[in-house]
Amino acid sequence: MNAICLRTEYLKNPLGVDFKHPRLMWNVEGGTKQTAWQIVTPRWDSGKVQSSAMWAEYPKGLHDRERVTWKIRLWDESDTPGEWSEAFFERGISVWAAKWITGAYTVNKKQRCPVDCFRKVFSVPQPAGKARLYITACGLYEARLNGKKVGGYALTPGHTDYRKRVQYQTYDVTELLHPGENELTVQLADGWYRGSCGAWGLKNQYGTETKLLAQLEFADPDGSRQTVATDETWQWSCDGPIRFADNKDGEIVEAFRTPMYNGFAKLTKHNVRPTCSNNVPVTEHETFKPKQITTPGGKTVLDFGQNIAGYLSFCVDAKLGQRIFLRFGELLDRDGEFTQKNIQCSNKKITTPLQQVDYTCAEGRNDYKTTFAVFGFQYVLVETDVPFRPEDFTAIAVYSDLERTGWFESSNELLNRFFEATVWSAKNNHLDVPTDCPTRERHGWTGDAQIFARTASYLFRFAPFARKYENDLRDIQHKTGCYPQIAPKGGVDPYMNPMDGSAGWSDAGVLIPWVIYSQYGDRRILEETYESMRRYALYKRGTLGKWYPTAQPTGVGLSDRKNISNYGQSYGEWAEPADVKPFAVSDFVSPHPEESTAYVVYLMRHMEQIARVLDKPADAALYHETAEQARRGYQALVRTKKFSLDTDRQAKLVRPLYMELLDETQTEYAKQRLLTALERYGWRLGTGFLSTPLILYVLAEQDIEYAYRLLENEEVPGWLSMPKAGATTIWEAWEGPNSKEGGIGSLNHYSKGAVVEWLFAAMCGIRVAGENHFVIAPKPGGHFTHAAARYLSVYGLVESRWERQGETYRFTVTVPPNCTAELRLPDGRTRHLGAGTVTRS
Ligand code: BGC
Repeated sequence: MNAICLRTEYLKNPLGVDFKHPRLMWNVEGGTKQTAWQIVTPRWDSGKVQSSAMWAEYPKGLHDRERVTWKIRLWDESDTPGEWSEAFFERGISVWAAKWITGAYTVNKKQRCPVDCFRKVFSVPQPAGKARLYITACGLYEARLNGKKVGGYALTPGHTDYRKRVQYQTYDVTELLHPGENELTVQLADGWYRGSCGAWGLKNQYGTETKLLAQLEFADPDGSRQTVATDETWQWSCDGPIRFADNKDGEIVEAFRTPMYNGFAKLTKHNVRPTCSNNVPVTEHETFKPKQITTPGGKTVLDFGQNIAGYLSFCVDAKLGQRIFLRFGELLDRDGEFTQKNIQCSNKKITTPLQQVDYTCAEGRNDYKTTFAVFGFQYVLVETDVPFRPEDFTAIAVYSDLERTGWFESSNELLNRFFEATVWSAKNNHLDVPTDCPTRERHGWTGDAQIFARTASYLFRFAPFARKYENDLRDIQHKTGCYPQIAPKGGVDPYMNPMDGSAGWSDAGVLIPWVIYSQYGDRRILEETYESMRRYALYKRGTLGKWYPTAQPTGVGLSDRKNISNYGQSYGEWAEPADVKPFAVSDFVSPHPEESTAYVVYLMRHMEQIARVLDKPADAALYHETAEQARRGYQALVRTKKFSLDTDRQAKLVRPLYMELLDETQTEYAKQRLLTALERYGWRLGTGFLSTPLILYVLAEQDIEYAYRLLENEEVPGWLSMPKAGATTIWEAWEGPNSKEGGIGSLNHYSKGAVVEWLFAAMCGIRVAGENHFVIAPKPGGHFTHAAARYLSVYGLVESRWERQGETYRFTVTVPPNCTAELRLPDGRTRHLGAGTVTRS
């Protein structure tokens, strides 16, 4: 038996992490049961530890730069040791010799500046040993050593609230250094720090002066450390080729320019000590070649066939001064013309995002790739007199380097395409921060992240990404305990501030750590976030009985008022289909007692479970009591005419059923009423933003055939209507490009894809049910003849497949080594499984 898939805190051989006692994690190959493990590092030998756990905490203190190579071997069920496997992690630095530097110009908040170009020339004796570059910025940086890009990361240092947290990266640059004179150059752009953020492209959101901090270290032949660090001796100019760079608007490039570095950097300050993200970096991924189209209006458009978030490269021959103007969009309009309307916010002053590249050629070969912007696009409008072939252009998908862990396939081709579209929208919306869309807002919306977290945890090794996002949330938690609606905050218009705390959105601060605990067995995320979660829970508890000034009367009597949260502005269910509930702006400025009260119950129940895991019985009791109190409030609410369960709005029935908010009579009534509502709506989806991922669970509880009837419906609104209409990503509005003018929305919003968790957890029935243990309860039905899910869980690869054979089904289940599972078949038979594959009919 051997250890495979070695990870340190979920990360594969990470460089520059700053955990105090990182958890070393592995999976098992060969054999059925791990009975013991041994880990050996230069400073620690665990000896043979009798345990089936597939992780261990590194117990030693770590010092800066320390590289720990860890070897592990396992003993199997017959106490036979296997081969050694090896991995490493390396700690970053906590003390910097480098000083923050900035360009030698006077900041004018209203003016955009060209990209800064810094340079440091230094010499390296022969032969230089291990070399590292530690680097970060307030802004975005791209570093080159002797002309070669350092590392394969994009949009570094990533997105945080730079006023609270700055992430640095560590690169192994040993191979890029050579004996003699070396040149380190760094370009510095505005990025999220100073460039446009959010729906309206607000600027200067984290500061006005971009800055750089870099420290290159290499070992002399005698082993002593040499340091090249940013200071006022670094050369600077802003005359390089990138004249303008903005994440959302794009780049203006004059390729014939070469920076002169004829000035010097200025010293500056930033009062935040850089830390490691301890997360996966953003990197380049899939590439696409286009088809060239001439539109009815005679425009040249490149169609890359897949809606992505990323950028583009090209390689063409041109004459000095020739121009290539590119605009990026998701859509051709009804007339077949390129458009950006569906992704832009526009008023008299501003249109955002522009998503364009304005490139002026150098003489001869022009090799271009975007450095400091990312776009959501499938189509590129090309305006140029430079001769080119479509294959001169390449689209490159750019997203956080999340390790893929989930695959699904079934006999329904449309569902398979829906699944793939969800995977794409997930990739396109994980760019250091989980975003709503890669175009219009690009905000770290808590609600979107919250409803998608379980799906993300099936599809990807999501834990380190979630951990980073939880830091973003906590960084801007209000003094009251209230969590923000968006994190990091850049780009949030002041008028939106009262939405912080919005039910179902801000609860992400608790619901996401719970997903990470339950999916990855990660108790540490609960321990580390508990205090902050507790403050949020108390804040929410305090909203019970507190009436917001614009609160609408609810019709409940005084005695029940204290049990209802009718406080704060919130989004409510938001985005129900217009024929179910027409959108009204007033929905945003008033509290939503139903959603708010429901989510108090839901939140408190999660807090109760968390407190139990962390062995805090008194806290658990308080949460329990608060949940019960709010539940009584909810029951009182739905007894009123205004909030009656006698409704065709599916969300109002799904929510209380899923969250178990009702008494017995109400529950029975709501179940029947939901079926009536569905019947009246032709078994199409009428839920809103928050309830859409929940409805199949609720229906399956009554009868799995109800769930399949809804899932398989190809009409609008419905999940399968999107792939049926050709979607390659998940749309914000059900009708997507076929919506009436103005209502198209983004075509790359993963939120409606959150139903994918149901395909894993219910349809194929794979659930993590504790350490090294699964419950596998497949639920076949509908018109499906087969369905299969594979999930590379934190405990190893688990698979569940079912096939219809006439009137019966055949189930094939694979349990990873060192794990057990309880197989629950639809007819009620259960079976305890050990590692291996079994087939049952
Ligand atoms: C975003 C959503 C977000 C919502 C808040 C929208 O504009 O795109 O996905 O959660 O606002 O209701």
